[in-house]
Amino acid sequence: MTVCVDIEGNDFVFNAKHSYVTAEDAYNPLTKPIFGEGVVYDVPNAVLMEQKRMIKAGLTADSFRAYIPIFIHEVNQYVDKHWTKDEDTIDLLQSISEMIIMTASHTLMGPEIRSKLHEGVADLYHTLDSCFTPIRFLFEWLPLPSYYSSGKAHDELDRIFSSVIAERRKHMGEKHIDMLDALMESRYKTGEPLSDKHVGNILIALLMAGQHTSAATTTWALLNLAANPDVANEVRAENETRFGRKLGAKSFPEPSYEDVKDFVVLDNVVRETLRIRAPLMQIMRKVVSPIAIPDTSYVVPAGNYLLAVPVVSATDEKHYKAAEDWIPSRWNTAEKEDAMDKATTDYGFGATTTSARSPTLPFGAGRHRCIGEQFAYVQIKTILYVLLSRFDFSLDPKRGMPERNFRSMVVFPEGPVLCRYKRRTD
Ligand code: HEM
Repeated sequence: MTVCVDIEGNDFVFNAKHSYVTAEDAYNPLTKPIFGEGVVYDVPNAVLMEQKRMIKAGLTADSFRAYIPIFIHEVNQYVDKHWTKDEDTIDLLQSISEMIIMTASHTLMGPEIRSKLHEGVADLYHTLDSCFTPIRFLFEWLPLPSYYSSGKAHDELDRIFSSVIAERRKHMGEKHIDMLDALMESRYKTGEPLSDKHVGNILIALLMAGQHTSAATTTWALLNLAANPDVANEVRAENETRFGRKLGAKSFPEPSYEDVKDFVVLDNVVRETLRIRAPLMQIMRKVVSPIAIPDTSYVVPAGNYLLAVPVVSATDEKHYKAAEDWIPSRWNTAEKEDAMDKATTDYGFGATTTSARSPTLPFGAGRHRCIGEQFAYVQIKTILYVLLSRFDFSLDPKRGMPERNFRSMVVFPEGPVLCRYKRRTD
C-alpha cells in the first residue's frame, strides 16, 4: 500500500491513467456483494461513466426544486415525532442518520420505497450496511458472518424494488420526479435501457454512497454549530435578512432551490466541515500495471494499492491558517477560489475539473469524482436550515466535542454522540 499525500499525492492518485490503476479492482470485492452485479465497479470503467451520466439525470436543478419540500417535510415529521420535549439530550448521530435515510430514500428511490422503510426496508439496509466494512477490501476470503448476510438482504431488496418498478411501468404516463424515474428512463449510448435489476442495484449503490457521507457531515456540522453558537446565530441572521422576517420555531419560510444555493453562511459551514472532517479518509486504487512515481526512482508494482488521503493537505498549516480549527468564515475570502486549475475533462458523465491539485478534495477528482456533491449540499443545508430555525443546540457538557472514530468506512464522531437541543420559542 503506497500512501500518497499532499497536493502532488492527491493528483498522482486521482489522475493516474486507467491503464495503470483502477478503482474497480480495489473496490469491487467489497461493493459487489452489497450493490449487486452489473453496476458501478462490477462493469468496465466506460460503462460506469455511462451509468454516472444516467444518475446525473436525477440530480438536476429541477429535481432539487422538487426535493427541497420533501427534505423539509421529512425533517419536521422526524423532530415532531422524536424530539417532543422542550429540551433534551439526544444521540445526534442516530437522529441525523435517520433523517438522512428518510430524505434520501424518499427523493432517490421514491415515495413507494420510503413508505416501506418501517416495513423492514430499513432493516435490510442496515444488514447491507453492516457488511460494508473496511476489512473486506483486503481480506475478501475471510469467513466472517457479515460476509454471508449481504446476499439475503440484497435479494430481498431486489424483490421489493422489482415490484415497485413493475408497478411504475404499468403507469408510465405518470411522471415522478425522483432518481428511480430518471434511471428507468435512461439509455446507454447503444439505445439499450438499464434492466430493472440494474436500476435497483444502482439505487442501493447511491444510498450507500450518500448515506454515511452526508450523515457524518451533517452531524459534524451540527456539533460544531453547537460549540459555536455565534455561527449558528449568523446563519439565522442571514436567513432572517433574506426572508425579511424572524424565523419562528413553528413557522419558517420554505426556501426555494435558489435560496438554498445562496445560503452563504450555511455554505461556508458545510465547506469548512468537509475540509477538516471529510468523511472519506481513504481513496483506493489497485495498480494493474507498474507505475512510476514522478521525479523519483520508485516504481509501484502491479498488485499493490495506491491510497490518497486528501484530509492531510486539507488540514496542513502550509495551506490553511489555524488549519485544525473550524472557521467557516475563512471561505468568505479568496480561499474559496483556490489556486486549482479550472480546465475540465469529460470522462463520459459531463465536464469535471481535470486537475486534482487542490488541498481540499472531499469529493475526490478525476473520472471517479463524486456526482452527488450538489445533492449533498442541498440536502445538508436544508436539514440544517430547518433544525437551526426550530432549535438551539449545545454540546453535552460531560461529553464535549467527540473525537474521530477511524474504524468505520467514513469518519464518524466517536459515540455516543450526545448533543443538547432546546426548542426555540419565538
Ligand atoms: C457529503 C457527502 C459526500 C461525500 C463527502 C462524497 C465523497 C465522494 C468521494 C471522495 C468520491 C470519490 C471516490 C473515489 O475516487 O474513489 C465519491 C464518488 C461518488 N459519489 Fe459521493 N460523496 C458524498 C455524497 C454522495 C451522494 C449523496 C451521492 C449520490 C446521490 C454520491 C454518489 C457518488 C458516486 C456515484 C460516485 C462515483 C464513484 C466512482 O466513479 O467511482 N455521493 N464521493
